[in-house]
Amino acid sequence: MPDSTQPIGIFDSGVGGLTVLAQIARRLPSERLVYLGDTARVPYGTKSPDTVARYARACARVLLSNHVKMVVVACNTASAFALEILQDELPLPVLGVIEPGARRAVLSTRNKVVGVIGTAGTVGSGAYQNTLTALEPGLRIHTAPCPLFVPLAEEGWIDGEVPEAIAKKYLDPMLRAGVDTIVLGCTHYPLLKNTIGLAAGPDVVLVDSADATSEVVAEILAGLQIASTTAATDSPRFLVTDSPDSFARLGARFLGHELADIQWVDIA
Ligand code: DGL
Repeated sequence: MPDSTQPIGIFDSGVGGLTVLAQIARRLPSERLVYLGDTARVPYGTKSPDTVARYARACARVLLSNHVKMVVVACNTASAFALEILQDELPLPVLGVIEPGARRAVLSTRNKVVGVIGTAGTVGSGAYQNTLTALEPGLRIHTAPCPLFVPLAEEGWIDGEVPEAIAKKYLDPMLRAGVDTIVLGCTHYPLLKNTIGLAAGPDVVLVDSADATSEVVAEILAGLQIASTTAATDSPRFLVTDSPDSFARLGARFLGHELADIQWVDIA
């Protein structure tokens, strides 16, 4: 059984999961965090389910060897394709981002018409659609893969004419269908929240899976009595499978501050 002094492990295909790390760090400031970004193999959003599952297993192994007490699959695509596999195989709690986001969307919608945006992999997997309808069978769900949002977020092109035009184009069909809630089903999309909000209009609620996930992490740790009981002084440790320098540059953009401790790991 894991104990309260161990860190929480978080992994993503690259830098995007830092949006999840940021929410966990904000909600649980006493916890030690280890983050793995599989930057050598990003993106996951365009890859097949088997490939993503293989990568996710390898990431989880690295976190286990770093003695984590739980694993958070911060990547929506990996949550869609590999969460159940990891939950079956790992001897500790494993949480993905899809169910927390879906629960929040069900609580938010008034007219029962919900939109989901994500990578082609996440949207194509049907994972959000299945989870949402399991929670609320009468929902009408409209989805749109928004692949250009990932490079826009990584380039820092999060505001202005071009991202707004792209957001409008992606969202137009679901807005016409009357969605009153849209799930940001990709790690990168919280960075574009303003732009997506402008395109969606003031009456549409945007659900941030990252924040919803941090709430469930807190519940799981409390339920298992493995929440940290001492104030953590360490800043998060970052592990990457490609150059620490480019992760540092992009990561600072995602977190809004410099990242201290970044190490390269080989998981091939
Ligand atoms: N982290 C991925 C996700 O949330 C987005 C980037 C990628 O395609 O790997 O689905």
